[in-house]
Amino acid sequence: MTTIGCVITAAGRGERLGGDLPKALQTVAGETLLTHATRLMASAPDVTAVVVAAPADHLAAARRAVADISGPQVTVVAGGATRTESVRSAVGHLPAGVTGILVHDAARPFVPPAVVTAVIAALAAGADGAVPGLPVVDTIKQVDAADVVVATPERALLRAVQTPQGFQAPLLREALADTGAEATDDSQLVERLGAAVRVVPGHPDGMKVTTPGDLVRAEEILQARRAHAD
Ligand code: CTP
Ligand code: MG
Repeated sequence: MTTIGCVITAAGRGERLGGDLPKALQTVAGETLLTHATRLMASAPDVTAVVVAAPADHLAAARRAVADISGPQVTVVAGGATRTESVRSAVGHLPAGVTGILVHDAARPFVPPAVVTAVIAALAAGADGAVPGLPVVDTIKQVDAADVVVATPERALLRAVQTPQGFQAPLLREALADTGAEATDDSQLVERLGAAVRVVPGHPDGMKVTTPGDLVRAEEILQARRAHAD
């Protein structure tokens, strides 16, 4: 039986977005990014527990932001100085028995439910890990420290990956047990163990709110979805 624990990373400051509040506590259509993202993940199939890594100095606000979400229990804990530290802290608060773990950025509040379901389905089918990804539109260059191009990877084989990223629970726990391990996404940590991580189709709506323009785009995604639902 598949039981999924979900971690929401929300402890970043949002330096590139700016504003008085940490990014996850800024709002789209009157609700925080954290509220939108947590509601989405709490309603995904087989999710039995959600742990939010929140800024240590905004724990009360983060708890208020998720207080009205129904379904699995939602716990808010203090995140760390890096994203990996936040994930490590939150995973440590998940129930020991979950078979799979999803890690999702609060900064991606409008990833379509079908993407979440595809990640969970890949885990249920036995994948070590599964991450949503999109083909890249630009040609990507690898450069050296002096910005001289050293390689041009074949574009057709590249994917820009999003969250939620899902893993068999023992694998992610093992990857995080190395307390020095740091990475820009969770998949990298698990890849280093030699695990096979599958890419499932992502969606443009899974975009990460990074700059002020992205907040406008997030608002548009939500409006379009609400108009469609009417
Ligand atoms: N995150 C986290 N703990 C950290 C840093 C980041 O939980 N120490 C979370 C953010 O809250 C966000 C996600 O990781 O939901 C992706 O990170 P990013 O988009 O870089 O967010 P910030 O670090 O907040 O933004 P910035 O880098 O612009 O400061
Ligand atoms: Mg950051």
